[in-house]
Amino acid sequence: MNESTAVLQIQTSPGDSAAVTQKRMTGTQPFCLVTGSSQGLGRALAEECARMGMNLILVALPGAGLPELSNAFARTYGITVLYREIDLTEAESPEALYRWIREEQLPVNMLVNNAGIGAHGSFFESSPEINRTMISLNIAALVHLTHLFLPELLKHPRSYILNVASLAAFYAMPFKPVYAPTKAFVLNFSLALRAELSETTVTVSTLCPGGIVTNEECRKLIAAQGFMGRISCHHPEEVASYALRQLLRNRAIIIPGLINKLARLLGTVVPLPLTQLFIRARFASKEQEKAVSGSGNRSPAPLLEVHHE
Ligand SMILES: NC(=O)c1ccc[n+]([C@@H]2O[C@H](COP(=O)([O-])OP(=O)(O)OC[C@H]3O[C@@H](n4cnc5c(N)ncnc54)[C@H](OP(=O)(O)O)[C@@H]3O)[C@@H](O)[C@H]2O)c1
Repeated sequence: MNESTAVLQIQTSPGDSAAVTQKRMTGTQPFCLVTGSSQGLGRALAEECARMGMNLILVALPGAGLPELSNAFARTYGITVLYREIDLTEAESPEALYRWIREEQLPVNMLVNNAGIGAHGSFFESSPEINRTMISLNIAALVHLTHLFLPELLKHPRSYILNVASLAAFYAMPFKPVYAPTKAFVLNFSLALRAELSETTVTVSTLCPGGIVTNEECRKLIAAQGFMGRISCHHPEEVASYALRQLLRNRAIIIPGLINKLARLLGTVVPLPLTQLFIRARFASKEQEKAVSGSGNRSPAPLLEVHHE
C-alpha cells in the first residue's frame, strides 16, 4: 500500500479467510487491531476506535459475521476496515495473522488483545479441553501476538497495547481456578512489559473489568449474583469508552466503575482467607450452577445495524 489512496478488492477465494472491505484506503493512517471483535467487549472496543476515526483490523473465529460488521463499521464511520477469521488457539495462527498484515503492508499502531474465554465451575468437574483452550487463547495467543507486533508498534511516534484481563486478575478465585490465573498472568505480563517499554513510544495498559453484560452466559452469571452482580456489572459500550479514554491517558491499570475499584482496594487489605470465603460464597450458589449449565447461546445487543450483502 504505497499510494496515499487505493481501493482494495474483496477477496472471496474459498478457504482464504482473509478479506478486505471495499473501501478507500488512506495510505498513512495507521490501524488498530482488535482480537475477538465480532461481539461483546471486543466489538464495543472496535466501535469506539472507529468512532475516534481509527482504521480497523477485526479478528474472530470464522462464521462470526465479521464481513457484515466490517462493512457496517466502514460505512458508518468512513474508515477502512479489514478482517481475518482465524482460530487464535491454534499455535500457528498469530504468525499467520501477522504475516497477512505484513503482506498487506498495513501500519499498526494499536494492538487490543481482547479475545478470551472464561469458564465457571468446580475444577474437579472441569473439561481439560476447555482449560487448555482457555490457556492457549488468554495467555499464549496474547503473548505471541504482542511479541510479533512489537517491532511494528515501535516504528510509530505513538503506539498502544491494550491487554484485556479482568477484575479476577487480582484474586485466586474458587470456581474460576483456571480463568482467574490466566488473567493474573495477563496483568503481570502487561505491567512488566510496560516497565520494559517505558522509554519507548509504546505504552501498555491492562483493562480489568468486573462483570460485563456480553454473551448469554455472562448475563446469567451476573443475574445469579443478585444485588452484588447488578451493582458491579457494566455494559460493553460503557467499558469500551472508559477503557479507550484511559488508554490514551496512559493508565497502567484500567478498572471501570467505582464498585470494582473498591473491590480491588478491599482485596489488598482484607486477609486472603476472608476474601476467598467471600468469593466462594458468591460464586458457589446453586443459581450460579444453573446459570452456566446448558448455556452458551450468545445474543449480544447490536451496537449498530449490520448490513448483509
Ligand atoms: N464478560 C465479562 O463479564 C468479562 C469480565 C471481565 C473480563 N472479560 C474479558 O473480556 C474479553 C471479552 O469478553 P466478552 O465477554 O466480550 O467475550 P465474548 O462475548 O464471548 O466474545 C469473545 C470474542 O473472542 C472471540 N474468540 C473466542 N475464541 C476465539 C478464538 N479461539 N480465536 C479467535 N477469536 C476468538 C469471539 O469470536 P466468535 O464470535 O467467533 O466466537 C468473540 O469475538 C475476554 O478476554 C474476557 O475474559 C469479560
